[in-house]
Amino acid sequence: MVKEEKYIQILKEAASLVEGETDLIANMANLAALVHESMGFWWTGFYIVRGEELVLGPFQGPIACTRIRFGRGVCGTAWQRGETVIVPDVGQFPGHIACSSQSRSEIVVPVFADGKAAAVLDIDSRYLNTFNETDARYLEQLVRLIGPCLS
Ligand code: SME
Repeated sequence: MVKEEKYIQILKEAASLVEGETDLIANMANLAALVHESMGFWWTGFYIVRGEELVLGPFQGPIACTRIRFGRGVCGTAWQRGETVIVPDVGQFPGHIACSSQSRSEIVVPVFADGKAAAVLDIDSRYLNTFNETDARYLEQLVRLIGPCLS
């Protein structure tokens, strides 16, 4: 299956997973697992806005840093800008926070609630240039399923 077909399948499964479930942690946990397992990424998880920081939420993959300040790293940058950030080579991103030396490329997608970024979905790959506009488009649709749990 090509990337696009995998995402279409993921979106279908995701919608039925969260249907009837309003708990933030439960839904984040299942969506992280669904994306991680289906796509074979290195690290897939959420950071949740708590005051001036992002705090680690449900994830799949190796252990990760627990707190990221506003504007720091790829995650803090996506939160600050309120838009998806694609990093083809983390070595070229000034201020990238290396939770794992295996991570080579990354995408961070903000999760909006009441018009504000209230969490981010962060995905790391062991390969360069893994993410493009296709990932951004489908992952932005995916995280809309989480927004209502954050309101
Ligand atoms: N690389 C991220 C930190 C989180 S880990 O990748 C799980 C960043 O620069 O914000």
